[in-house]
Amino acid sequence: MFGKNGHKIEAVEVPPAMDAGEAARVAYERDKSLTRHHFEEGEHPIVRIEHLNKTFTDTPVLRDVNLDVWNGEIVVVLGPSGSGKSTMLRCINLLETPTAGHILIEDKEITGTKKTDVNMLRRDLGMVFQGFNLFPHMTALENVMVGQVKVLKKPKDEARAEAMKQLEAVGLADRADYKPPQLSGGQQQRVAIARAVAMHPKVILFDEPTSALDPELVRDVLNVMRDLALHSGMTMIVVTHEMGFARDVADRVVFMEGGVVVEQGLPEEVFDHPKTQRTKEFLGNIR
Ligand SMILES: Nc1ncnc2c1ncn2[C@@H]1O[C@H](COP(=O)(O)OP(=O)(O)OP(=O)(O)O)[C@@H](O)[C@H]1O
Ligand SMILES: [Mg+2]
Repeated sequence: MFGKNGHKIEAVEVPPAMDAGEAARVAYERDKSLTRHHFEEGEHPIVRIEHLNKTFTDTPVLRDVNLDVWNGEIVVVLGPSGSGKSTMLRCINLLETPTAGHILIEDKEITGTKKTDVNMLRRDLGMVFQGFNLFPHMTALENVMVGQVKVLKKPKDEARAEAMKQLEAVGLADRADYKPPQLSGGQQQRVAIARAVAMHPKVILFDEPTSALDPELVRDVLNVMRDLALHSGMTMIVVTHEMGFARDVADRVVFMEGGVVVEQGLPEEVFDHPKTQRTKEFLGNIR
């Protein structure tokens, strides 16, 4: 393989995905002391990332990332700009195609096979971005309904009831008929969260959902996410720079740098007793 400058890129060789039972045993042993989330021996992780590599032209951006996420677990991903956090999330829902490695959702491999139905996959994986990506010409209610009707083929009445329920949950029932330009950034992001939750995905991926917001609006969005994390049982992978949120809400904190998971563990361990110099420096700089 050749990169854009004609440099030869070493093809990355990775082993085949592990057998599901074996993977579950390995993940159980590895993760049981790294997360506050309770899971049973014999349980299988909902997301398995094995030897994930992503190279853009000739630059490796993810290098052998291995991570398992458990059903109902809240994983917060931290790391400096350019460390590969967004790329990892985008690989999980196949907005990016991994260069090598395996991603499995409920033990079903989504990578390296043409059989994956990307639309089906994205039903199972909700995503909330930094920019809210709402349809500007639709009301908040319609924004939360549209995926349910178009993708899940739900009858409109049902979709509307679910949308209202989710708008209530994010504190915006009284804004159901407003369009995005009439809503604050924080309100738009809460609509985007309601929209993702209304699809009842298996996992929701959040990519810096508060970093485009004015500080006074951040709190409302974090409160909504905190509520979801504590009460919905939803599995969440959250990239954020909100350290308070990470410390209080995360079951596990993952620190990435240079496309590698440098350190992961219980929030109190990673924050109060970081094991690597890089984690120390990063947390020292950001506090
Ligand atoms: N489409 C692309 N083409 C080429 N390079 C890319 C592309 N997307 C990302 N990269 C590069 O990959 C690296 C990791 O980017 P990524 O967006 O995953 O980082 P990040 O950890 O999310 O950073 P931030 O905190 O700034 O959002 C960066 O060096 C970036 O320039
Ligand atoms: Mg990013």
